[in-house]
Amino acid sequence: QAKFLISAPDIAHLNEHLPGDVGVEIAFAGRSNAGKSSALNQLTEQKSLARTSKTPGRTQLINVFALDEHRRLVDLPGYGFAQVPLALKKKWQQALGQYLQERECLSGLVVLMDIRHPLKDLDVQMIEWAVDSQIPVLALLTKCDKLAQSARMKMVNEVRKALADFGDAVKVEPFSSLKGTGKPKVLGILNEWCHP
Ligand code: GTP
Ligand code: MG
Repeated sequence: QAKFLISAPDIAHLNEHLPGDVGVEIAFAGRSNAGKSSALNQLTEQKSLARTSKTPGRTQLINVFALDEHRRLVDLPGYGFAQVPLALKKKWQQALGQYLQERECLSGLVVLMDIRHPLKDLDVQMIEWAVDSQIPVLALLTKCDKLAQSARMKMVNEVRKALADFGDAVKVEPFSSLKGTGKPKVLGILNEWCHP
């Protein structure tokens, strides 16, 4: 039953535009085109809650969706997209960093990575940052429909191994917004974060 709540256009307006820093917020972060908006739509069973696009860099705002009075999902702008002017890139990264560091109600971070290209520098930084801040992480390996089952599990195991040092703080799951693969697992984890 998620409903669009608000978009924060830039860091200056961030706190002004975001709802009060209370309750539970779960943020979706990842490189541009990783499938953040698609995952949000699949998980909330709404075709066009979050705008998706073939063009990386579509989501340039922090978009907040309300699940209920106390719980929200947040679609963050993607990082790492090369064809964005440097000034704009810096602006996004600043907005992203500020949101992640200052938002007290942030209760979980979903880091989405294309299963074919996981664990880029910024992804790892994001995960490390969240673990340092004691925010649980779900590393979601998206577009898993693009790989055959054996290649998929191989990747999942490699990423689990690479992140094993973080222990229970970081979970790794395959996901497909297209097919709904991994959805029950992911919903289970989000549900735990939503009801601490
Ligand atoms: P930005 O907003 O630019 O940061 O991108 P995003 O991370 O929100 O990605 P988005 O959900 O817009 O998806 C990017 C592209 O990947 C779109 O063309 C989607 O259709 C495609 N895509 C997303 N999820 C999947 C998936 O599970 N399987 C397949 N095959 N394609 C997907
Ligand atoms: Mg998006």
